[in-house]
Order: sequence, then structure tokens, then C-alpha cells
Amino acid sequence: MLTFDPSYVVAQPEDRPTFTLPQLASSRYFEKPLACSQRLPPVLSNLLPEGAMRSHMAKVLKTHPDNEFPLFAWVGQDLPGALIATPIKAGEIPGWALAGGLPAEPVQIDAKALAQTFSLAGVQVKFSSSKKDGRFNIGAGDGNGDWIVKTPSTIHTDVPANEYSMMELARSMGIMVPETALVPLSDLDNLPAIALPKEQWAYAIRRFDRSPGGRIHAEDFAQVFGQYAHDKYSRQSYESVARALGMFSRDRLGDAQEMARRLLVNTLLGNGDAHLKNWSLIYPDQQHPELAPAYDIVFTKPYVHEDGNALNMDKTKVWKHLSMASFERWAKKADISWSAVKPHLKVAMEKARDVWPKQIRDLPLNERQKSLLREHWGTLSPDFRIEVSKPWQTETHSTSRTAKGRGGDQKDGESVAGGRCQPERQDHLFETHDPETNIDDHLDEAEENDDSPGPSPF
Ligand SMILES: Nc1ncnc2c1ncn2[C@@H]1O[C@H](COP(=O)(O)OP(=O)(O)O)[C@@H](O)[C@H]1O
Ligand SMILES: [Mg+2]
Repeated sequence: MLTFDPSYVVAQPEDRPTFTLPQLASSRYFEKPLACSQRLPPVLSNLLPEGAMRSHMAKVLKTHPDNEFPLFAWVGQDLPGALIATPIKAGEIPGWALAGGLPAEPVQIDAKALAQTFSLAGVQVKFSSSKKDGRFNIGAGDGNGDWIVKTPSTIHTDVPANEYSMMELARSMGIMVPETALVPLSDLDNLPAIALPKEQWAYAIRRFDRSPGGRIHAEDFAQVFGQYAHDKYSRQSYESVARALGMFSRDRLGDAQEMARRLLVNTLLGNGDAHLKNWSLIYPDQQHPELAPAYDIVFTKPYVHEDGNALNMDKTKVWKHLSMASFERWAKKADISWSAVKPHLKVAMEKARDVWPKQIRDLPLNERQKSLLREHWGTLSPDFRIEVSKPWQTETHSTSRTAKGRGGDQKDGESVAGGRCQPERQDHLFETHDPETNIDDHLDEAEENDDSPGPSPF
């Protein structure tokens, strides 16, 4: 049961740090506790890893990967953002925590006294790390790691070089990108004994939720929309993400422009993985959200052979169907001034056309993926097509590696056993903004319907 200290609930919004965006959308957010069985509610569940990292944790704890309470207790001191989770004994639960009107009994979980570790969301194997004298020390989960290190995938070729290169291309066309590095595996200290392919590099990115002044609160858009990680490709669209930003960001216009640029970059760079967990908010002043810097931009097309985005935009996912007119309709639907966004898209597009064809030559992206990316540019709508001159176009594939589906975020295969949160809180969350939309009505809908705006009231 997720419930809040009454002194936090009654505090003036300007006197308390924000826990999650929905509390800014509805003063009724705190009215009822959020009850779950086995799983944590989505706003907390999304702080835990998916995939192999989660399985590994569950194995160490000798529990089921969906039994999230013990997992959460283990990593609680080093979570994404500024939240800290500390287990307490069943007998020490304050009265107010159980007085929410729901029949609930405390259950003592087995919070094992293991050495602390960290949690980062996502599917890829990764570590929180600190950097000293050019070397990366894989941290102990003490909260001091200010870099994320992603080791190479055992399934897919050259992911670190791919991600590093895409982030560099994004940076040069004006996207807000944290400091990144391509790190020789030999420069990683205290790397646990994990299976590694015969590759040279890991990828590192500086954390935007850690700073010398302390932790900075952050949350991803799966948390914002109250959806579990397995729903990160569902129910929402890039319109609903933009609408949430437009309603609550501290820098509404700047974030709308940045989001438009990122949607463009995902299209240009064949990144089909910009699902809800790959967009985050940060709270630099602890209260007001703004769009977090970009992360996890990967040219996924060579791995998954898909031709579209993770979420709908202008009712389509297909990259070649997207044009400036699609962006205009996206802006209109998200209540964003098109005249404020259009010039930024034009400038970004000009930069990409100007800089990328040359820049890509010097990036560590493997030659096969370079060719595929140039090919991809030729498939886009005339608004977004990037011409490359003949010598690059005719370049032959210089590696014989086979690209398979990316080991990163998968669109399938994640089963969810166990309880599901009752949406008591979510169903009335945003009704002040859109009384027509009732999340409950949509909760059991199948995968996103192209013609439906989804359950989001944003
Ligand atoms: N630079 C960063 N600073 C802080 N948090 C980050 C940063 N990059 C990623 N994250 C967080 O870590 C999670 C996993 O990182 P991501 O690069 O998306 O890995 P994966 O490829 O496994 O999805 C993200 O969902 C986000 O919450
Ligand atoms: Mg990710």
C-alpha cells in the first residue's frame, strides 16, 4: 500500500518536494492509498531494473523477479532520482500508514542484509559508477556513482559504439545530451564476473540525477502515467507525453521544442526504442519538473529490423510516413504552438544535413551500421531525407557480422505474474483537466489503438 505521511500531504505544495507529476495534476492524488499485491505500484516499480538485471537480483535474493518488495529493500539506498527506500519492521509501521480506509495487514518481508547495491531501470546490463583519473569504478551502491556504465551486449553487436555515436549525432544537431564516453573494458575497475562478448568498449554516460550538491529527483514517463514497465510501448503516444510537459514543465516552450527535436532525431537515427521509460522528467528545484536530458538513443533498426517509433505520433509509428505536416499535427494535438516549434525543427534538420554526413565518417559506429544509417536516411520523407554523396552511398558493407534483434528493450517476452495495482488513485487523477477521460475505462484496452488518444488525460 502506498500512502503518505499526513504532514507531507497537508504541507503547501511550495513547501514540499514533488514525488510524482500526477500530484501536481490533481489535489486528490493523496486522497486514497494505492494498494497492490506482490508488485509495487508503477510509480515505484519502475525504479527497478527489467530483464537480466532483475533476474540476477531475484536469483541472489532467492525470490521471484516479480516479488518486488525484497528487491526494492535491497536497492533502496541507491535508486534512480532522489528517492530512498528503507525497510522497517512490521511492528514499527506508523498508525497513519494503515489508516487509509483499506483493509490491510502488515506482512514482514525478508529484507536480506546483503551488501548494498544500486538500481537503474532498463533492460541492458549496466552499473552505477564513479570516474577517477580516467578509470571507471563500478560502485557499491553507496549512492555516489555519478556515471552509468553499460557493458556490451552478449546478443547484439557493437551496441556501446552505436549508442555513443547516436548520442554524438544527437548532440551535434542540438539535443541536450549529458557527457558520454566510450570506455575500453580494461578501464573498468571492480566489474563483476558477468558474461561479456569479445568486444572492446563499454558505453558511459554521466548521470543527470546525481550532482555534487546531492541527488536530483527524476522519474520516467511510465511512472508519470502510472504504467508498469511492461506497458512502456502501450496506451500513450508522443502527443500525451508532450501534453504532460506542456501542462507542467517549468520550461514549457523550451521542452516542447526539445521534444520535437528528439522526435526528429529518433526518426533520422532509426531509434525505435523511445518508449515511456526512455523519456524522463527531472526536478532540479525539487518541485517543478522539466524534461531530463536525452539518453538511450540507439540506431535500433539494424538490430530489430523495424521501421518505426516505439509510440505513435500523428497516429503512426512508421518513420517514412513522418513529415513536417505530421509534426504540425502532433503540435496541434498536444496544444503546442506550431510557430514556436517549426523553426527549431528546421534548424535541427539543417544541422543534421550539414554536419552528419561528414561527422559519421569519424564516429566509432561499425561500417555496416554506417551504411545502413545512410540507407535509412534515403528512405525518409523528402522533408527529412538526408542526401549523402556517392562515395559514401556506394560504400560496401565491410563487416560480415549478423545483426539480430537488440538485447535492449524488448517489445515482448515480459510476463507479469502477480498482483496488479488497483487504480484507485489514477482513475480520478487528472479529471480537473479532462473530465471526459477516465483511466479506468481504458485500463484493459489492448495495445494502443491508432485512432484512440489513449487513456492519458494529458
Ligand atoms: N544520464 C542519465 N542520468 C540519469 N539517469 C539515467 C541516465 N541515462 C539513463 N538513465 C536512467 O537509467 C535507465 C536505464 O538507462 P537506459 O540507457 O535507458 O538503459 P537501457 O538500454 O537498459 O534501457 C533509464 O530509463 C533512466 O531512468
Ligand atoms: Mg532505456
